[in-house]
Amino acid sequence: MQATRMTVLGATGSIGCSTADVMLQHPDKFSAFALVGHRNADKMLELASSLRPQWVVMTDADAAKQLLGRLPTGVRLESGMDAAIELSSATETDMVMAAMVGSAGLPATLAAVQAGKRVGLANKECLVTAGQIFMSEARKAGAEVVPVDSEHAAIHQCLVGHDHASISQVILTASGGPFRDRDPATLHAVTPEEAIAHPNWDMGAKISVDSATMMNKALELIEARWLFNIEPSKLSAIIHPESIVHGMIEYSDGSVLAQLAMPDMRMPIAYAMQAQPRLTTGIPWLDLAKTGQLNFQAVDKVRFPAMRLVQDVLQGEDALAITLNAANEVANAAFRNRDIGFMDIVTTVEKALQQVDNTPVETLDDVWSHDAHARAIAVEVMNA
Ligand SMILES: NC(=O)c1ccc[n+]([C@@H]2O[C@H](COP(=O)([O-])OP(=O)(O)OC[C@H]3O[C@@H](n4cnc5c(N)ncnc54)[C@H](OP(=O)(O)O)[C@@H]3O)[C@@H](O)[C@H]2O)c1
Repeated sequence: MQATRMTVLGATGSIGCSTADVMLQHPDKFSAFALVGHRNADKMLELASSLRPQWVVMTDADAAKQLLGRLPTGVRLESGMDAAIELSSATETDMVMAAMVGSAGLPATLAAVQAGKRVGLANKECLVTAGQIFMSEARKAGAEVVPVDSEHAAIHQCLVGHDHASISQVILTASGGPFRDRDPATLHAVTPEEAIAHPNWDMGAKISVDSATMMNKALELIEARWLFNIEPSKLSAIIHPESIVHGMIEYSDGSVLAQLAMPDMRMPIAYAMQAQPRLTTGIPWLDLAKTGQLNFQAVDKVRFPAMRLVQDVLQGEDALAITLNAANEVANAAFRNRDIGFMDIVTTVEKALQQVDNTPVETLDDVWSHDAHARAIAVEVMNA
């Protein structure tokens, strides 16, 4: 059988590199058609040498220039988002791993969906900003969208063979991040380094900060709403510090199904790449006797106000979700750049939400105009 030809968007990031790891463990099953990065030319050079793709794309033109004449023989080079969009929907792509960070990932991922590709979806911002449009395009084109977020991959696995109408609750677990037990009075002084040092997961900088504010869980609840077509009242999150149980579904008879694994993204990535038969991943075996205890606690919405904000956003129209996401991207980046404090991230998002109308979103143009508007408001709020 021919190997699945992969296009990896965000290849140079944390998910992209874990995807490369799984591909290299199964060279008979997966080959690289295209690898897409943004600025990290050195990492791309490393990946191109090991995976030997047909195409390398750097969406940043200067980064592409750094690769001129340095790629292995036969690997072709392009730059810009248009090239990423073209290769994601090319005939030679069988599957796209969507792992760019932020709403920048939407155009190329949507192009893959519209071309009917199988899409491993790590980029949660696609569904947060354009959930209805994205899933409706996937249905129209017959594209299979498989979640890569560990929580959603867990829910996907707990759904297999079950009746959707029997779901009474979808529960996403959250580690609570590095500040779960920290005195809230000291949170204003935390540094980007402290916020990025996640206790259980090794992830990119933006999502690590989102985990510390729990904005990541807020985005994931919105993602789950569209991915699984679940009404907001049936979606919840629970703190689980060990990150061993990734998600649970409670069915109408009171039975709860959970999926467990060691916290290593290669597991959900491999599941998205090939669900059956299961791939080996090299992740450590789960030894529950050694783990000893699995703990759970309710989410404290005072400590984590992002989880309060998302309740209104889930009940509202898509303009609110786009605003939550865009304002968060701006404030998260400003915090990492030391322009604002940690507590200012969610405050900025809350103030941006107060300034927008709760309007439905029908087209991609609407998505981008709400996105730009929210970014401008977030900047204004931070400068006030
Ligand atoms: N890491 C995890 O464990 C995890 C788990 C669940 C979901 N996710 C989701 O997966 C996505 C990627 O996360 P990550 O942790 O892998 O992030 P990351 O390590 O920061 O990597 C981000 C990737 O996106 C590229 N990129 C950044 N800005 C871009 C832009 N403006 N245009 C095009 N490409 C751009 C980066 O390229 P360069 O590095 O070359 O600049 C890199 O390849 C996020 O949406 C995140 O929420 C991640």
